[in-house]
Amino acid sequence: MPEEELSLQRLIDRQVDASLRLVLQAEVLRTGGAADLVLRRLRERVDENAHTALLLLAAALDDERITRASELLRTTASGRERAVLLEALEAILPTEEAARVLPLLDRERPRAIAARAVRVLGSQPATFDEVAREVVADEDHLTAALLEGTLDVETRARLQLDRRRASVPYQAGAAAMATDIEKLLHLRSLELFERLTTQQLADLAAAVAEVTYPAGGAILTEGEFTDGLFIIMTGEVLVTKAGVTLRKLNPRDFFGEMALFDGGMRSATVTAVDTVGLLRLSRDAVLQIMEEQPAIAIAICQTLSRRLRDLLGERS
Ligand code: CMP
Repeated sequence: MPEEELSLQRLIDRQVDASLRLVLQAEVLRTGGAADLVLRRLRERVDENAHTALLLLAAALDDERITRASELLRTTASGRERAVLLEALEAILPTEEAARVLPLLDRERPRAIAARAVRVLGSQPATFDEVAREVVADEDHLTAALLEGTLDVETRARLQLDRRRASVPYQAGAAAMATDIEKLLHLRSLELFERLTTQQLADLAAAVAEVTYPAGGAILTEGEFTDGLFIIMTGEVLVTKAGVTLRKLNPRDFFGEMALFDGGMRSATVTAVDTVGLLRLSRDAVLQIMEEQPAIAIAICQTLSRRLRDLLGERS
């Protein structure tokens, strides 16, 4: 085998081994009841590694079709379309490579893949606590923060996470990450953001501010120019125009999308009914996430046109 091909093979091996280790970690954490978000992050990292392995294979075999199919797999959520793409890759790849890489992308049979990982890596599955400690010390800070932020009190105490934290000098970065995880969990619970990857959620969480208003406080004022989209976490707000009530909005609703698009004036006044907890997203953060996930732009536009019809008196 030529030198160049050999080093490509080594790089592919490294990606496959790293993925198998992540698959094993995920299986142990899943059985031990770890939060969905942690498993999703591990899943995304397996996908990324498998994608890299496919790109390396495309280079080694000089076959553009592999790159194309791999790119499509990354953006395809539907189970049927994924199955078709995996079949196409199986037909293109040499049998041995297909058997090594493609099972990593199969979401239907996590246990079978974990069993394969045990065979290939020759290691026995570790206990939940062992894996949790490994993940908390992981170089992927997001996986570590997600696990730390979602473990229950007893598990934290058993793993001595708080003691470990106290023994390390205060780290502003770690504290910021802990608050971001709380915001991330809020964002994740919203239908609007359900298709974001954990990394996109983390980026968005870092750009979001938590704000509180007392009962009666004016959050937005009709005719003013202010920036931001708001998501209600707790409490209720009242939307009024020229003193007339248009709607009451509840937790999980958002407002402020109209001025967001054109940077124009606020179309209505929004007031806190009781104490209201909000997440405030800057215009730049929203525009960026809409570019990355057009489904979010569509959902916001649907709400916007409904509200426009209200304002035009076309709906009751
Ligand atoms: P914006 O114009 O940026 O600021 C005021 C917000 O009130 C507006 O965006 C909408 O989010 C919200 N709003 C305006 N009209 C309605 C309505 N009819 N129903 C619900 N919310 C509205």
